[in-house]
Amino acid sequence: MKNRQFLSVRLITLISLVASGVIIVLASSCGACGREKASIESDSLKGLKDFYMGYFPVGVAVAPNSLDGDQAELIRKHFNSLTAENAMKPGPIHPEENRYFWEHADLIVDFAQVYGMKVRGHTLCWHNQTGAWMFQDSQGNQVTRETALARLQDHIKQVVTRYKGKIYAWDVLNEAVTDDQDPAKIFRESLWYNICGEEYISKAFQWAHEADPGAVLFYNDYNTENPVKREKIYNLLKKLIEEGVPVHGVGLQGHWNISNPPAQEIRESIDKFSSLGLEIQITELDVSIYASRNDTINMGFTPEREQKQMDFYRTAFDMFREKKDFITGVTFWNISDRHSWLDRRERKCYPLLFDEDLKPKKAYWEVVRFW
Ligand code: XIL
Repeated sequence: MKNRQFLSVRLITLISLVASGVIIVLASSCGACGREKASIESDSLKGLKDFYMGYFPVGVAVAPNSLDGDQAELIRKHFNSLTAENAMKPGPIHPEENRYFWEHADLIVDFAQVYGMKVRGHTLCWHNQTGAWMFQDSQGNQVTRETALARLQDHIKQVVTRYKGKIYAWDVLNEAVTDDQDPAKIFRESLWYNICGEEYISKAFQWAHEADPGAVLFYNDYNTENPVKREKIYNLLKKLIEEGVPVHGVGLQGHWNISNPPAQEIRESIDKFSSLGLEIQITELDVSIYASRNDTINMGFTPEREQKQMDFYRTAFDMFREKKDFITGVTFWNISDRHSWLDRRERKCYPLLFDEDLKPKKAYWEVVRFW
């Protein structure tokens, strides 16, 4: 009898021990669920700029008409730096010799001021999107070197002065180095180069510096990961620095795609340019699903391409975080896959972190989870 009572007591004890163990296990795993849920919730309240607070500002290139509605909301949540996609380029902002068009650029700068964002100026001197008038006299003949330089000086002075103290960094010179793989050819054969010779380069930086001594001045280019072009850019920047020209940073545009360039080449460029004591910014980041901008076959955003894009973005941002002592900004070129400058009528490129409904893509989560 006693034995039976003892056995049943032991049985009850055993059952209750197992039960409480199960409860503890359940409770603790539920706690984990709760914690995970809470962190997913708080992660979705955060924006890119919050995840990257201790690293570098995260920017986006915008048009004035994107500063409204759901896109404006997305911009405010995720970004703390703006670049004008077109509005500050020489052609749009200075369409005729005696006429500036400030309205669009002002809208972008005002938006940034209201929401406490930084502004990168893009760009003071470029071979594209520059009024034909810059290089012609009233008869349509090509101007002299003196006239071209005087016009460039006036343009830089007016634009930089207007936004002094509001634009913290300028792409002074865009894409002046050639893609030609012949190491002997350094400069792009632009009108600036053909009319003025190499001198317009150092002058542009000096004039920008005179107009706003506080602005951080960049040389900006694409294909900066190509070893031959990298070497040319490096040598040009080294020479400018040695001559005392006020150049402070180099912008790697970052128009990349899911297969190129290899991460090692990006790393090499960051290391090489920063060895000159220059700041590095990724100024125009997008990662297309197409290897070439001229690709016309519509391939679609398949799961394989989505995965490759996630891998590319994760690897790139792991590296950017690792190089945070040298990288002072990362800017995306356009807001979401709703619209990218790379899209053509017959195909979309899906290069950004937000989809057409402005929802974070899987690649977004690869960029904000630091493991
Ligand atoms: C692009 C804009 O996104 C387009 O809207 C415009 O039609 C052409 O220029 N490198 C640059 C940027 O430095 O200014 C370019 O922007 C993209 C390539």
